[in-house]
Amino acid sequence: MKLAKRMNRLGTETAFEVLAKAQKLEAQGKNVIHLEIGEPDFNTPENIISAGQNALSNGFTSYNPSPGYGDLRDVIANEINTSRGINVSGENVIVTPGGKPIMFFVMLALIESGDEVLYPNPGFPIYESMIEFCGGTAVPMKLHGDRDFNIDIEEVRSQITSKTKLMIINSPNNPCGSILGDSELEQLANIAKENNILVLSDEIYSRFLFEGEHNSITTFPDMLSRTIILDGFSKTYAMTGWRIGYGVFPKDLVEPISRLVTNSVSCTASFTQQAAIEAISGSQKEPNLMVQEFKRRRNLIVDGLNSIPGFNCAMPKGAFYAFPSISGTGFPSGVLANRLLEEAGVALLAGECFGKYGEGFLRISFANSEKNLNEALSRIEKFIKEN
Ligand SMILES: Cc1ncc(COP(=O)(O)O)c(C=O)c1O
Repeated sequence: MKLAKRMNRLGTETAFEVLAKAQKLEAQGKNVIHLEIGEPDFNTPENIISAGQNALSNGFTSYNPSPGYGDLRDVIANEINTSRGINVSGENVIVTPGGKPIMFFVMLALIESGDEVLYPNPGFPIYESMIEFCGGTAVPMKLHGDRDFNIDIEEVRSQITSKTKLMIINSPNNPCGSILGDSELEQLANIAKENNILVLSDEIYSRFLFEGEHNSITTFPDMLSRTIILDGFSKTYAMTGWRIGYGVFPKDLVEPISRLVTNSVSCTASFTQQAAIEAISGSQKEPNLMVQEFKRRRNLIVDGLNSIPGFNCAMPKGAFYAFPSISGTGFPSGVLANRLLEEAGVALLAGECFGKYGEGFLRISFANSEKNLNEALSRIEKFIKEN
């Protein structure tokens, strides 16, 4: 089969490959603890499930408008306005099957051959993959492991050229758990305005903050008209399999992005959208409890990792991942991740799955029970002591 050349530029999200490998080992009888995939281990709250079931019974089984139902778009706009302190309307919102397609659609709509796109590295692997697939040049914005995974603003400034079209930011960050503080956001906003750069602000972990309040780059003057917010329901409401997320767009982008939705997936599932209305409008007790629980687990996993010889783990401020440096173990991270899966039964990801600056780190999702996290920690420690 002769594939189109562009397929050589398409990367992947290794978490799905490691999950498949781990499941294969499980099918052969091996016990594996799953710390590789980024999804809450909680069930979708009952009120949301009931809303989805009722929607199915009440005939929400057909096509619907490509940008999503008007009432859901309004509910999302209200939520965004309340949580970010900005002023958007439902017409700025486009609902998609997950937050991920927003990345694809934004880049398809904006990036031409030769355009440069800044993106966080270590960062969500789909950014780099999509930039290159769309013919752009991916310019890594380094998150410095020796500085709590912060960016260096002067370094970012030095990476801007006349070809820089888009800047992707992700706070709280997957995989590092770092956040962009107000001062960094303000400086990034200034860089964007001075150089006429658009911003894709991936805020999918905005509710998973363990310290302080979430701030969006859209709150800085004149940023709303040049920023796309990506957010969704997968993480906040434990709805990864429902496939629903959204983007909040400057007006000029709404029609072209809706056309991309029409050309690809047509629309997002009708009953899922009804469940999403309930997710935002209903009780927030369970999602809030989930965050508190993740905070407890964060402390457990970071303390545990820091007591393993050769590991050094910074305290994540948000999301639900620990990203320890393992350079003190002497293992390359890819080798260690493989051997931990095959020999110790712990599935996790090598840091380089998140870009070149991830080498020397592991990503460990702590969206798992305390019991499993403790067992994983003792398996990792035993492996390191024996090897
Ligand atoms: C940083 C980041 N953005 C976006 C997504 C997309 O999530 P979904 O498509 O399930 O909404 C993920 C999922 O892992 C993520 O980690």
